[in-house]
Amino acid sequence: MEELSLTTVAGTRDILPEEMPCWHLIEDRARRIFSQYGFLEIRTPLLESTELFARGIGGDTDIVGKEMYTFLDQSGKSITLRPEATASVVRAYVQHAMYRTGGMTKLYYLGPMFRHEKKQKGRWRQFYQVGAEVIGSGHPAVEAEVIEMVMRFVASLGINAGLKVNSVGDRNCRPAYLDLLRHEISRYLPQLCPDCRRRAETNPLRVFDCKTESCQIHIGKLPLIADHLCGDCADHFRRVQGYLQDAGISYEVVPRLVRGLDYYVRTAFEIVSGELGSQNALAGGGRYDGLSEVLGGPATEAFGFAIGLDRMVMLLSQEASSAWLTKPDVVVVHLGEAAFSRAWEVTRELRRQGWTCFMEFSGGSLKSQMRMANRIQASHVLIIGENELSKGQYPIKRLSDSQQWEVSLDELISYLKSTNAPALPGSKSVERSLLD
Ligand code: HAM
Repeated sequence: MEELSLTTVAGTRDILPEEMPCWHLIEDRARRIFSQYGFLEIRTPLLESTELFARGIGGDTDIVGKEMYTFLDQSGKSITLRPEATASVVRAYVQHAMYRTGGMTKLYYLGPMFRHEKKQKGRWRQFYQVGAEVIGSGHPAVEAEVIEMVMRFVASLGINAGLKVNSVGDRNCRPAYLDLLRHEISRYLPQLCPDCRRRAETNPLRVFDCKTESCQIHIGKLPLIADHLCGDCADHFRRVQGYLQDAGISYEVVPRLVRGLDYYVRTAFEIVSGELGSQNALAGGGRYDGLSEVLGGPATEAFGFAIGLDRMVMLLSQEASSAWLTKPDVVVVHLGEAAFSRAWEVTRELRRQGWTCFMEFSGGSLKSQMRMANRIQASHVLIIGENELSKGQYPIKRLSDSQQWEVSLDELISYLKSTNAPALPGSKSVERSLLD
């Protein structure tokens, strides 16, 4: 018989329990910081109609052209696993007429995205993003506020990252610039790589993203959008930079910065970390004023970003996240048949009182149960043997300094309260020092 070997699909992976504290820390921090800025969470489906992305992201992008997981459902409708969430959030904004309330709608989301990209370190086919969108304002201070929020989020986790910004123009100035760019690229066309030659036709701005060595000399000679912005776009970009400076945020203007999604106008930005290697983008975003209209909604200005959680986890120090391990306050060790029932009773009582408590049902020797308590980093071990049952006094051992003494159940609870051990996971002191 053929041996069955079922493993994860290429480009996807299991996130195992030992990695989870990192994820919980990042997700909790995002929720706390984003809500401080007035963002509310939205959860949109992983499945959307293919047309949403074809229209929203743009048919000439790599994402729509070759990276989407698309299939026909039972009714013959074309469905796509979302490659990003901005189009979905704007769809939801239009579908639920959120614009009726007027003013800014601030939404954040968190979850998996799917892109059939070439496998590489830091690049997955199922990856996770947390992102935020401000829909309903064209004010340049929105850019500074959102960028400040994401920079604070990143810094609060001890991650060093740089900010790159650019303006990619708008519907007024970009068409003429793209004509000029196409014309200039055509002068070097035979010397360019096949990808550049294709993009020259379909999406010339993306030529700036080419990594091929031999193309760089020609790309370096191409005209830059910065020199062809209309007055309004140039003014908007100047004001964005003014607000960034007011907020004390360092940034670099990178005139060749372009983004892989077609909905951007005016401000585009990326947050990068040198520690990530070739896939150095930690976050990306920008302004997308026309997207709501493209998706059948009213003309609405908007700005947002998404940050890659998989990449954040790669950068997060073990020290920061280990504070988030759920470490038991007490492991109840039991020796003998009769002690089992008492141990289980004590375990349940301690949990009812809010402590994190654990016992090994199959028992084993004192040594093996102590080993388990050490492995899961318990703070204390309570030992219940046949002799202790009648006395109602149990040896307790503090694992940090191996001190041991005897307690009743009531005394144990008073003692735990006096240690101020948190009844919920997470070391409050570490959390606070990271946020300061
Ligand atoms: P994006 O630049 O395509 O933008 O993705 C944002 C971030 O998601 C990237 O900087 C990266 O950290 C992470 N990411 C993207 N692809 C992968 C992958 N294959 N594996 C691991 N991480 C990945 C967007 O998705 C836009 N929706 C952002 C946005 C929101 N713009 C406006 N609002």
